[in-house]
Amino acid sequence: MSRKLKLALIGLGRRGRGGHLPVYPKLKDVFEFVAVCDKDEEVLREVAADYGVNAYTSVRDLVAREELDIVDVVVPGDAHHPICCYLAENGIHFIVETPVSVTRPMTDLMVEAAKRNNVKLEVAENYHRVPMARFQFEVIDSGVIGEVGRIYRIFYEGGYHGMSMLRLLAGSPPKSILGITHVTGVVPIIDRMKRHHSQENCTTSFLEFENGAAATMIYSNVIHARSLGRKNAGISQIDGTRGAIVGNTVYFTDPADYQSGAIANAYEPRISTIDVEGREVLQRISLELPDREIAWENPYAHLGVGENNGRGVDMADQLMSIARAVLDDIEPTYGAQEARLDQEMSLAASESALMNKQPLAFPLRSPSEAEQRILTKFKETYGYDYTETEPLLDVFYPRR
Ligand SMILES: NC(=O)c1ccc[n+]([C@@H]2O[C@H](COP(=O)([O-])OP(=O)(O)OC[C@H]3O[C@@H](n4cnc5c(N)ncnc54)[C@H](O)[C@@H]3O)[C@@H](O)[C@H]2O)c1
Repeated sequence: MSRKLKLALIGLGRRGRGGHLPVYPKLKDVFEFVAVCDKDEEVLREVAADYGVNAYTSVRDLVAREELDIVDVVVPGDAHHPICCYLAENGIHFIVETPVSVTRPMTDLMVEAAKRNNVKLEVAENYHRVPMARFQFEVIDSGVIGEVGRIYRIFYEGGYHGMSMLRLLAGSPPKSILGITHVTGVVPIIDRMKRHHSQENCTTSFLEFENGAAATMIYSNVIHARSLGRKNAGISQIDGTRGAIVGNTVYFTDPADYQSGAIANAYEPRISTIDVEGREVLQRISLELPDREIAWENPYAHLGVGENNGRGVDMADQLMSIARAVLDDIEPTYGAQEARLDQEMSLAASESALMNKQPLAFPLRSPSEAEQRILTKFKETYGYDYTETEPLLDVFYPRR
């Protein structure tokens, strides 16, 4: 890397403080962290003092007073498009948290603004970037379980994160979806993230991919909350023509046993760590097979990224993606179109449920009924149409 990139963070909530901030010091050779911005003054002053950076309560002031290369946008999803469009219009590259935005028309405003102003746009979709996911992609690419035919992710994660994983594991764009939503009452609760729930909206999605693979995903708001006993166990299973990945265990059958039960042998991944300044950091995940080894190596281990079984590797990876895109004038590794498709798949599950459980083909019409409802609610909530990005820049977006 030839020069340090000046970095600011907008949004010091749960994700900004707990997920993004701790990784910045590890990437200090790449980024110069210069400023934070949040409408919550108390948190803002505290973080600015801790990190010795400038503090702003308004995005307009941040942009006017700092010379920024990249902004890390970690505000609620409704705020993504006004803030990102403003950054783009001011020639600032950005990485935005997930979902890229809550509807495709909003995402399209961001993409167009980025294109018009020649700025790089990365999305902080992180599920495929965590070490065990990276390792499983290596296992699939090696062909050891054969062609992926079916994926089950039950009580794991839903929405755009789940959809991202399903299509990346399937290795194909989606072809069609069936979404079924089942709603039941629960006692009124406030979860560990201070979200309120009095009902459980459980969505079952069945997807077919263009390459013939299929996937089933089941998820709900109460599962996400990990409340009322939900999410104590989940099923993650990837079935291939020669074997399967069940949880983290890889199974495959010796061809000599195909005609005599086809019972598979189980292979457990081995995790290796290194010591970086007295801390144990994940270095490698490997699988010892009778005839070869399959491995994934943590490219950030030497920087001390990956303590506690790989924590922070996903975050470092997405920050390095936007850094390389800016420095080398290349495309970020994920980008807006991938994230837009994840959101399209998630919206399509709701749309199918709204259409009385009708299967829908991709691409989903835009705006869909599900999106139209979100856009109408957006205007009622904030007093502006989603296209009015100028006044929307000054709105406070509360935790939902
Ligand atoms: N990738 C993941 O796994 C993951 C996990 C959690 C959250 N997220 C995403 O991260 C983002 C933030 O989520 P969170 O849980 O930290 O939310 P949060 O509500 O805890 O924090 C958001 C922060 O944004 C600030 N804010 C609101 N409006 C603002 C404005 N106009 N200008 C400046 N600051 C403003 C709030 O004061 C708050 O501090 C969301 O997009 C969410 O979907 C992603």
